[in-house]
Amino acid sequence: MLAIIGGTGFGEYAGLAAITPAVIATPYGNAYLQHGLLHQVPLVFLPRHGQPASFPPHRVNYRANIAALAQLGVSQILAITAVGSVDPQLPAGAFVMPDQVIDYTYGRAQTFFDDEIHHIDFTYPYTQALRAELAAALATLQCQDQSMVFRPRGVYGCTQGPRLETAAEISRMARDGCTIVGMTAMPEATLAREKGLEYAGLSVVVNAGAGINDQAVDLDGITAVMVEGMARVRQALSIFLERRDQAGGPV
Ligand code: HPA
Repeated sequence: MLAIIGGTGFGEYAGLAAITPAVIATPYGNAYLQHGLLHQVPLVFLPRHGQPASFPPHRVNYRANIAALAQLGVSQILAITAVGSVDPQLPAGAFVMPDQVIDYTYGRAQTFFDDEIHHIDFTYPYTQALRAELAAALATLQCQDQSMVFRPRGVYGCTQGPRLETAAEISRMARDGCTIVGMTAMPEATLAREKGLEYAGLSVVVNAGAGINDQAVDLDGITAVMVEGMARVRQALSIFLERRDQAGGPV
């Protein structure tokens, strides 16, 4: 089964049918999610920040969320995030599917293996086949709207938050090779890998990273970009499922 994790600006799934909210108890606490149908396909929608949004990025219960999805038999996760740009070429409204992560977070419960020695390979934090499938859906959407900026690769720098970064931090992240900056890819991606779940990310750039414009980040200006961006994300997810439907399974 497929799960979609919604981020900032995507706390409700307009278009999801037969929604049944559920509270799933896990050894790490409760996860709050919804069962629903999208294009007749049963899936799970999990608004990462809660509904209404109340868990800031550093307090999201990532372990409960991923453990709940695993308990429900989810095998694939599409993780949606709102991000800032680190690459100055990326305009607000651009879409990036990260293929790499640099983790700048600290103090988050970041593993299911606290009481035993267990290492996972994490060379490629996102699942290649699932990424390719999602990228194909985005490319189809881009054909319909040439004004859309879409990058099928990028490095997601995950900061601790909840404050935004300083200009010097964004410069450092650019030197590190980051493309975008957000606060929620980690430890979510790690935990998905620890549970053996396929995981792909789709990020919407909602603002220029700190210092890129020589201006303070315009938090009020983010909302409009976010609303439009998340509407496009829903279109991309519909195309993703339509392609699967036509192919009779994952393509
Ligand atoms: N920094 C970190 N996280 C974010 C940003 C940002 O500029 N914009 C949206 N999420």
